[in-house]
Amino acid sequence: MQIRSATAVAHPNIAFIKYWGNADDMLRLPVNSTISMNLDGLETKTTVIWSGDLATDQLILNGSPQSGAPLQRVVTHLDLLRQRLDINTHALVESTNNFPTGAGIASSAAAFAALTVAGAAAAGASLSERELTTLARRGSGSAARSVPTGFVEWHAGNTNEASYAESFAPPDYWDIVDIIAVVSREHKEVGSTAGHRSAATSDLQATRVAGAPERFNICRQAILDRDFATFAEVVEHDSNLMHAVMMTSRPPLFYWLPPTLTVIDTVRRWRDQEGLQVCYTLDAGPNVHCVCVRKDAQKVSTKLRALSEVLGVLSAAPGDGCRVLRLDKDNI
Ligand code: DP6
Repeated sequence: MQIRSATAVAHPNIAFIKYWGNADDMLRLPVNSTISMNLDGLETKTTVIWSGDLATDQLILNGSPQSGAPLQRVVTHLDLLRQRLDINTHALVESTNNFPTGAGIASSAAAFAALTVAGAAAAGASLSERELTTLARRGSGSAARSVPTGFVEWHAGNTNEASYAESFAPPDYWDIVDIIAVVSREHKEVGSTAGHRSAATSDLQATRVAGAPERFNICRQAILDRDFATFAEVVEHDSNLMHAVMMTSRPPLFYWLPPTLTVIDTVRRWRDQEGLQVCYTLDAGPNVHCVCVRKDAQKVSTKLRALSEVLGVLSAAPGDGCRVLRLDKDNI
């Protein structure tokens, strides 16, 4: 009996060593290897139905049928899956996020991880986790890191097969929490895909990339040693370097807003003057990911909520990788 439908769940991830710029935009081969942690509690659930009855691919996102660019990006990924899985039907893709789309949490990572894993499962294919990461990467680079569990490294590689992600520590290895301080709910004007293309126009990108392998090793070891002080220093530095590249690209990209800097400054003060084990990191947006040890999480969360610049707070512990929730066979 042929399996035709599957549902997968994936978490977004926060990068501690950042992905910014590709050596190959088409294949999404990044210029440096990166490290991240999956975010438990925040999730994207995606069902893929391969069906000979469909005349076109369809995408329903949080209950709304999509067209234009969002649909096209999914169709392009479905084309890749069709080619790899030897499928010649269209698909219905239904996806829901349990986190607000306007909260500035990268949804493409969880979206393309779940789409890849559900699409392969629905086709009855049992691909290796490594191959699933390389396929997910083609949809959105950071999606490769949402496939494996817990703390994840993505090896840049210089071919399609060599650029893959794998877990280097399970979620319960280190009890840290990402407390996301939301300072804006606006949709960003320049997305990551366009940003990656402009990274090389910054004079600072070559320097950022040259130091990335060392920061990668320091960060990986700090996580394995559960050494918060070393971790905080390298994570903040790596985030600052990426934003320096963004700000000095031509044309420049300024993702920070005035409240962003207030939160950054405050987090540093809490660590230096009050001894809280907390540090900050930012993706391509103004919201501040405040990463702290579990014993300080409640305090950090309460203090962030008390800042007038902070509109809301979301908390996430280290999360699992992407997994299949349901498989249905024939006649669905
Ligand atoms: C700043 O993976 O979103 O969050 O491949 O174009 O979808 P695309 O880019 P994306 O880039 C993520 C950039 C970042 C840093 C990171 O997550 O490493």
